[in-house]
Amino acid sequence: MARSAGRAHHGLGRSAPPGRRAQAGGLRDLEAVRGGATARSAVEPVRSGQPPARRVSLRARGLLLVLVALAPLLALHLFVTGLAWGQAGAAERIGLLLGLAAAAVAALAAAWFGTHRLFRRDVEHLLRAVRERAAGRPSALPVLEGELGLIARAVAQLDEAREALRRQVEEAEADRRDAEARTLGVLAVVSDAVIGISPSQQITLFNKGAERIFGYTAREAISQPLDLVLPALAGGRRLSTRELSPGSERWETVGRRKDGRQFPAEVGASVRGHGSPASFMLVLREVSEEAETALRETALRESEARFRGAFEHSAAGMAIQRADGSFVRVNRALCEMLGYSEAELLALTHQGLCHPDDAEPEAWYERDIRSGSIRWYQREQRYLHRLGHMVWGLLSLSRAGDRSGEPPDLLIQVYDITERKRAEALEAQLRQSQKIEAVGQLAAGVAHDFNNLLMVITGRSYILLHHLGSDHPLRNHVELIQSTADRAGALTRQLLVFSRRQALQPKVLDLNTVVTGMAAMLRRLIGEQIELVTKPPPRPDRAKTNPAQIEQVVLNLVVNARDAMPNRDRLVIEAGDVKVDDRAAGEHPGMRPGLHVTLVVRDTGVGMDAATQARLFEPFFTTKGPGKGTGLGLAVVYGIVKQSGGYIGVESELGKGTTFTVYLPSVEEAVEPAPAEVAPAELPGGTETVLMVEDEEAVRDLIGEILRQAGYTVLGARHGGEALVIGDRHRGPIHLLLTDVVMPEMGGRELVDRLAVTRPAMKVIFMSGYTDDAVAGHGVVGTGTALLRKPVTPETLLRSVRDVLDAEASAPAQPA
Ligand SMILES: Nc1ncnc2c1ncn2[C@@H]1O[C@H](COP(=O)(O)OP(=O)(O)OP(=O)(O)O)[C@@H](O)[C@H]1O
Ligand SMILES: [Mg+2]
Repeated sequence: MARSAGRAHHGLGRSAPPGRRAQAGGLRDLEAVRGGATARSAVEPVRSGQPPARRVSLRARGLLLVLVALAPLLALHLFVTGLAWGQAGAAERIGLLLGLAAAAVAALAAAWFGTHRLFRRDVEHLLRAVRERAAGRPSALPVLEGELGLIARAVAQLDEAREALRRQVEEAEADRRDAEARTLGVLAVVSDAVIGISPSQQITLFNKGAERIFGYTAREAISQPLDLVLPALAGGRRLSTRELSPGSERWETVGRRKDGRQFPAEVGASVRGHGSPASFMLVLREVSEEAETALRETALRESEARFRGAFEHSAAGMAIQRADGSFVRVNRALCEMLGYSEAELLALTHQGLCHPDDAEPEAWYERDIRSGSIRWYQREQRYLHRLGHMVWGLLSLSRAGDRSGEPPDLLIQVYDITERKRAEALEAQLRQSQKIEAVGQLAAGVAHDFNNLLMVITGRSYILLHHLGSDHPLRNHVELIQSTADRAGALTRQLLVFSRRQALQPKVLDLNTVVTGMAAMLRRLIGEQIELVTKPPPRPDRAKTNPAQIEQVVLNLVVNARDAMPNRDRLVIEAGDVKVDDRAAGEHPGMRPGLHVTLVVRDTGVGMDAATQARLFEPFFTTKGPGKGTGLGLAVVYGIVKQSGGYIGVESELGKGTTFTVYLPSVEEAVEPAPAEVAPAELPGGTETVLMVEDEEAVRDLIGEILRQAGYTVLGARHGGEALVIGDRHRGPIHLLLTDVVMPEMGGRELVDRLAVTRPAMKVIFMSGYTDDAVAGHGVVGTGTALLRKPVTPETLLRSVRDVLDAEASAPAQPA
């Protein structure tokens, strides 16, 4: 009995999962969940014919059966024993007790036997069912009463719970397998490489994409170090969680294929788990052409933005120009420099912005750069501002880049150098005028000495001619000497005019009158094929200058214009006025601010290049062939204009013509009437006494001889001191003092002052090789006084002497 029960327990223990307590717990839980009714319904009835009422009374029936079987036996025994107990001796009483015990034992044995026989089959049923179930064979559990029934029901519930659990596990497993299959399916079809990496940096997963990209099979790659495929990424070190934090951007690296070739790749990573070192999942993609293009486009956009910024904010004016000349883009600096809005500029071309004269060379260079024969070029050139004024630019031209199949765009860069140019021009002008000044001083020095020599030559030839008869064979020679000396004298005079060492006898005159007065002569001079246009000024213009010299200016300018117009064009002489402001004066060294009268001589001739313009006013500068020009014409003009306090400007363009503009300070004073012309007569002489002071001996002798020949009494002195002595000692009157202006020790003017004390009626003629401030500036020239320019011809000398002697002695022979 005990053994079978033990087996039963053993059988249960085998079929159940390890740990009966857990099983019992699980059972209780299940019971709680499912409720008793469900548990009971799992217990199948074993004997289907038995009614439920009998089942309930089974135990009672067994007990009753035993008791019914034993009761008469026991009653009979007790009766017999009771009868015998009273009569029996000691021995009989012991026998009675033993009989009683035997009866009890028999009763107990009968009871055990009955119970055993009654329950044994149920237990066996139960045990068999449990064993079969434990063995996994379905079997019905018997419907049992009491403890056995409880066990049977518990077994049924246990069974059920185990079944439910099994189903759950199965479902979960199916789900897992499903998901894995899906993932693997996805990993198999994605084109990217998906690589799992263990914390020790070994490859744990290698999908089809990875196989395709790297050339390894998954089998080859798995368990290998990551370096195998991503040397740059792993680089022999461990990837850190921080580096590969989830959501970190994708980055670029280099992958290595099985054949050793490397390729650019883009990698993203995700960390798996929280351990450190963690494991990772890398998703890698070859940087395909498309992706590369996208990357390049991004880079391009960034670079474009950078260059656009540089372009926009550059201090230089910049533009990109197409082959057809139109602008692709212009920057702010260019707009500001030329005064246009961006839209306006985009509608224009670079050549259209250039000064017309600079546009053509510009076009050549553009062609050369486009053709590749030069890489770039740089030059200074002029632009026209929107408002019309000129802007000087330093232009750099280069290729802006090539577009396939099309001529390259050009990059134009322009720096505004107008200010620098202005300063340079000013400096050049200044240098030029300083140079002319220096040349003038030199010329004046030479001319002064030269004049004295010439005077001797002309004077002596005059005397010679006087003594030679009109048919003398040598007369021709002397005449030639004289005329040559005259020409030489004219040259030196021009040099002196240029160096402004000529005495001016200025008077107020109307420029227009001068020009109109000359018109007939000028027309003859320039010939019929050149059209001469004289334009009178809107207002009468008055300037104070020497009329003969102004005529000389006009003449020289007109002759030059004629020579510059081989094609017989048009010459305009125009008088006018202009107010020179401080700014204009500042830009032109030598020009003074204020109201000016202007004389413009404009021709349509050959024009001049910059080199010629720079040297124009230098004496002896000429482009005309030998014997054709002396190069003194403009030097004389320059000297006269300067001496009158004026300015001369020139504008000229090769092939287009030249405009000279003479500026003379305007005056308010009334115009002085022109002196009446005196008809030339016989050379006059006289008998008066003349005191002549001249330091140069040859000149002194010459003048003395000319005057004596003409009948005068001549007292010669070498210098002022000697003249004073003579003036003192001479008993008779001295009618005229003829003196040099500039002499050592005592100047002409001081001498006059001192002699005038004793001889107030004495007339004075000054002679000068040149006129400096001592003469012109201090007004030596006045009424009753004459100024003779050296070299003086005998005619001039004799006429002047006579004129001064005959003049009304109203004013003292004093400097004004
Ligand atoms: N209107 C003009 N057009 C073109 N060139 C000119 C003009 N005026 C002057 N020039 C140039 O300037 C040079 C100097 O002129 P300038 O009058 O001083 O001397 P020149 O005419 O050569 O000689 P000269 O006047 O002594 O006979 C000329 O040789 C010529 O090259
Ligand atoms: Mg000339």
